[in-house]
Amino acid sequence: MLATAGTSVRAASLRQIPNKGNLNILIDGIGTGLDLPHLSLCHYYIGLDLATAMLSRAKLRIGNLRLKLVQGDCIPLPFAQECFDHVVLHLILAIVPNPIAFTRSRTRSETGRKRTDTRQVSQTR
Ligand SMILES: C[S@@+](CC[C@H](N)C(=O)[O-])C[C@H]1O[C@@H](n2cnc3c(N)ncnc32)[C@H](O)[C@@H]1O
Repeated sequence: MLATAGTSVRAASLRQIPNKGNLNILIDGIGTGLDLPHLSLCHYYIGLDLATAMLSRAKLRIGNLRLKLVQGDCIPLPFAQECFDHVVLHLILAIVPNPIAFTRSRTRSETGRKRTDTRQVSQTR
C-alpha cells in the first residue's frame, strides 16, 4: 500500500528527465528503488544510499537498467562536481538537516556536459 502511494506523482516527476541520450543521473537516497520502474533504459544511473538494507532491496528492482548502487553518506555528496546531468531527490529533502544547502550542492553536481557513462563518475571518498 505505502509502496504504491504517490506512484503517479513519482512517475510524473521522473518524466521530466529526457527519454533519449546517454545521460548520467544520480538517484540520491535511492531507498528501496521505487523510482526504478519509471526510469528510461537509455541513461546511466548511480543510486546512492546510506543504508545497505535499502540498497539490497533496490538491487531487486534494477532489471535491465545501467545502474550502479553506491553505499555512502550523501552529505557531502561523495562525487566530483559536475558529474551528473540530472539528480533525483525524491523524499530526501525532508530528512536532511539543511535542505537549501543540500539542494545547492546537488545543482553544483549537475552539468550540461555529456559523459560517456557513469563509470567515469569519480567518487571523492
Ligand atoms: C524516505 S526514503 C526515500 C527513498 C526514495 N528516494 C524514494 O523516493 O522512495 C529516504 C532514503 O534516504 C536515505 N538517506 C537518509 N539520509 C541519508 C544520507 N545522509 N546519505 C545517504 N542516504 C540517506 C535513507 O536510507 C532512505 O533510503
